[in-house]
Amino acid sequence: MAGDKTYYITTPIYYVNDVPHIGHAYTTLACDVLARFMRLDGREVKFLTGTDEHGQKNETAAAKAGMDPQAFVDKVSRNFRKLVEDMNYSNDDFIRTTEERHKRSCQALWRRLVENDQIYLGSYAGWYAVRDEAYYGEDELTASPDGRKLAPSGAEVEWVEEPSYFFKLSEWQDRLLELYDQHPGFIAPESRRNEMISFVKGGLRDLSVSRTTFNWGVPVPDDPDHVMYVWIDALTNYITAAGYPDVESEEFAKCWPADLHMVGKDILRFHTVYWPAFLMGAGIDPPKRVFGHGWLLNRGEKMSKSIGNVLRAEDLVARYGLDQVRYYLLREVPFGSDGYVSHETMVGRIDSDLANDLGNLCQRVLSMIAKNCDGKVPEPGPLKTADEELLEKAEALIGEVRVFLWRDQAFHTALICMWGVIGDANRYVDAQAPWALRKTDPDRMASVLYVLADTIRCIGLVTQPFMPDAAANILDQLAVSEDQRNLGNDIARRRLQAGTPLPAPRPVFPRYVEEEEEA
Ligand code: MSP
Repeated sequence: MAGDKTYYITTPIYYVNDVPHIGHAYTTLACDVLARFMRLDGREVKFLTGTDEHGQKNETAAAKAGMDPQAFVDKVSRNFRKLVEDMNYSNDDFIRTTEERHKRSCQALWRRLVENDQIYLGSYAGWYAVRDEAYYGEDELTASPDGRKLAPSGAEVEWVEEPSYFFKLSEWQDRLLELYDQHPGFIAPESRRNEMISFVKGGLRDLSVSRTTFNWGVPVPDDPDHVMYVWIDALTNYITAAGYPDVESEEFAKCWPADLHMVGKDILRFHTVYWPAFLMGAGIDPPKRVFGHGWLLNRGEKMSKSIGNVLRAEDLVARYGLDQVRYYLLREVPFGSDGYVSHETMVGRIDSDLANDLGNLCQRVLSMIAKNCDGKVPEPGPLKTADEELLEKAEALIGEVRVFLWRDQAFHTALICMWGVIGDANRYVDAQAPWALRKTDPDRMASVLYVLADTIRCIGLVTQPFMPDAAANILDQLAVSEDQRNLGNDIARRRLQAGTPLPAPRPVFPRYVEEEEEA
């Protein structure tokens, strides 16, 4: 689709002081699957992730570690780079907010907001939660059993009084409601859209956008006593990576507005209220869509370092395998909802969905072909209704998955739909019993194995964005050439060529063996 706008998709930029865990891995994984799908579908993609390195929280963490803040963030941001490798993400850029390109972009945005009369100097007196890097109104707070004041997130708040610049958020209420109204897809899923609409309808206060009591941040232009509030700094990363402030550049024109900001529901307000208001205030278009997904819970609570219930991606990958973890995270929890993850359910899914359903299907079919069809794609005879039905379902998969991913970001539904065809294929093998046909009707056996091989090809194609290595393994075993591995419109109908020599079969998904863990 030459000439199309680049599909620009972003993850939140993660606070570097945290240990990367599968909560972080989850958001980036969802983006990775979309980015891979889009690329295979012929779209130009820009997929951005990175780290949020300024703010009081990082400054305090650096002090605790006895390090200079820059040295500290240089060190810990590597953990998030490593997560990219561990999880096989295909991001095109990795932004760090301490980079020069980003400071330049933040300061340019600030100046533009000042020029547009969106920022004024005042003083702030109110509550602030360092853990969330967020301001809270008195009415939002609750008391802990020992009398400390807590934000709705559970973070402790402190009283802050300081000179501060303010962004005129209160002036944006109508424009924001108009934006939500005119672009119903701007906030997803629907339930969260309603929450944000009622928040904005409740009235907006001007937002404090600078701090003076610490200095680990981007300096406010022309007033070095102030550093920018870490959220205005952080949100700006999305335009920095698109080339801001060079708004005339080809890069900016191709990328902006972003197509999708994928975030956790905890930071939806920043992305759907503050961010579009900043952008509109600076005369820049808001992003097209923000999806706020749910939380991964472990032992009943949101995973977090302070609770001590984190599952780390690198540990899970070492134990279960990379594509197994990628599959599990997107299959186990309906995307958008909160859901539990645990070792028990992971082992269950790996064994039943991957080893049994998909792994066995591939192994059975490929080894029968190796043994009985001279290691070549078999020559099919006339096809029967059951054959055509299975092939049709397999060929329809790409189109169905495309809709679930593009329109709804419903990763779990896409996987359920794929496993529906895998189930059909397994029932077809049992019903057709090709092993019995070997003696009685070898021609029919060849047709059945051909139908199955081509079904597996379609499954291999559509699993690529989710499980890149396993899918490549499947497609390699069917000798599908690189140029036949895209997800374009007619690819599913380009069936396997009878007589193509196939490599020796090898297993796709081994069962998870518990003993290995003890060893
Ligand atoms: N730095 C800000 C984001 C700035 S974006 C301009 C921030 N960082 S964070 O490190 O706290 O990461 C928050 C994001 O990590 C969440 O929005 C979510 O995408 C992901 N998750 C962290 N824990 C999670 C779970 N337990 N479950 C699911 N996602 C979680 O906020």
